[in-house]
Amino acid sequence: MFPKWFMKWNRENPTNIYAPAIAVGVVGAAVFVAASLVAIGQPYATDSMQTGPRGTGMSVPEFEADLATPDPDIALLIEDEPFLPEEGEELAGDIYENVQVLGDLTDANFNRLMGAMTRWVAPEQGCAYCHGDGDLDTYGEDNLYTKVVARRMIQMTQNINENWDGHVNANKEVGVTCMTCHRGENVPSDIWFKITPVNERVEGWAAVQNRATSLSQYTSLPSDALEAYLLDDQVIGVHDLESRVAGIPGEDGYPGIQQAERTYSLMNYVSNALGVNCVFCHNSRAFYDGSQVTPQWATESLGITMVQEMNNDYLVPLKDVYPAERLGPVHQDAPKAACKTCHKGHQQPLQGANVIQYWPELATTGAPDYGQ
Ligand code: HEC
Ligand code: HEC
Ligand code: HEC
Ligand code: HEC
Repeated sequence: MFPKWFMKWNRENPTNIYAPAIAVGVVGAAVFVAASLVAIGQPYATDSMQTGPRGTGMSVPEFEADLATPDPDIALLIEDEPFLPEEGEELAGDIYENVQVLGDLTDANFNRLMGAMTRWVAPEQGCAYCHGDGDLDTYGEDNLYTKVVARRMIQMTQNINENWDGHVNANKEVGVTCMTCHRGENVPSDIWFKITPVNERVEGWAAVQNRATSLSQYTSLPSDALEAYLLDDQVIGVHDLESRVAGIPGEDGYPGIQQAERTYSLMNYVSNALGVNCVFCHNSRAFYDGSQVTPQWATESLGITMVQEMNNDYLVPLKDVYPAERLGPVHQDAPKAACKTCHKGHQQPLQGANVIQYWPELATTGAPDYGQ
């Protein structure tokens, strides 16, 4: 189909067309991608939150697409104004038979709170989850474990809001209700149990690490960091700043290699629990230096003591109340809470939505303050 002279010329001058074709293809694809990015926009755009002074690299980047997606649980928060009590109104403590904690509430507010607790913790089972199938005059009985646990949960929530205000209202009024942890589930997500030793073939220190578990954040780091730091009050730290310290590391009050590995395990947990990286709290050139940290470091510090108290004073003592299927798989220990039980991967639980504003009954261990 081509003229003869062309076929002849073509035969005499063979050319490798593949090399130029690849070059043309690559350039063409690059032009296409560039044109698409200009037209459609960068699909993985990031925004970054500066956490420290300029030039220190202290910033936490996040995908804009993630930032634009609100936590869907925020839509489930209950906005239900309290009923302002009137002079001389009868209180739940006088009306009902067995009210040990919520005695100072008026009947209307008592029932408003029972309704909310049902939606926060047992929306499918209803009042029966804690009170059984009997009629209202059996509600004073304490024969279901769920009711006994719930009473302690009310006390724990009140204690968190009243005594750990510096953590749960660190930036603004946010607070904690049953919703913060439960989110409409009987058993909150992100609770934990002791699982060490995770490696049965060795003894001692080696037995707690080198197994990818959820508690080691799927790394080879130790799986006992929550146990050591959020239940027992062990030393968090990686090394002593003095060069030659007398004594045995890990035993004489300063950290050794085991504590260092555990510390990194805890720090990984904390970062994942909040969805942030290390420079949200630290200047990475001086992890040890308490004077180069962000205010969030101090909020975490308080959080650690708060979680120790929640576990030791409230959750662990409930062990004998739970049925066997609620206890831990390895040690039959009580279910425990940590940072992620509230934070669920967000810097602030429910992205800092004010959850306590309608529930003054849960904000204090004393009589509720309705601001009258
Ligand atoms: C998550 C558990 C839970 C759910 C669900 C629950 N309650 Fe309660 N209820 C309690 C606890 C705990 C007490 C005791 C409070 C105290 O000691 O201060 C209580 C006490 C009561 C009492 C007082 C009984 C008495 O005579 O002492 C009544 C009435 C009551 N609840 C009604 C309800 C109603 C109505 C519902 C459903 C809308 C409901 N509760 C859902 C945990 C629950
Ligand atoms: C800091 C987190 C946290 C808060 C806040 C919290 N809970 Fe819990 N709750 C837990 C943990 C952890 C458990 C143990 C899980 C289990 O039972 O397996 C639990 C268990 C329970 C159970 C037993 C459920 C079952 O089926 O075993 C009830 C009932 C309950 N909580 C009610 C409440 C109520 C009511 C409130 C609010 C007044 C509340 N909780 C607030 C963490 C929390
Ligand atoms: C939410 C804040 C926060 C985040 C995020 C965080 N840390 Fe920490 N870190 C702390 C606090 C608070 C302490 C001190 C705990 C204590 O001593 O009670 C600490 C202690 C440490 C220590 C011990 C310092 C010493 O005194 O020896 C190291 C090392 C450390 N963090 C590394 C990291 C690494 C690595 C990351 C990221 C994977 C990280 N941290 C993420 C708050 C944070
Ligand atoms: C009982 C629920 C609860 C638990 C458990 C909890 N937190 Fe928080 N935390 C909150 C609430 C609520 C806020 C929001 C306070 C505010 O923004 O005013 C918060 C705020 C913070 C902040 C400040 C964030 C910011 O934007 O300034 C840090 C850091 C933090 N928590 C770390 C932790 C760590 C680390 C743990 C575990 C050791 C932990 N929290 C356990 C409820 C909790």
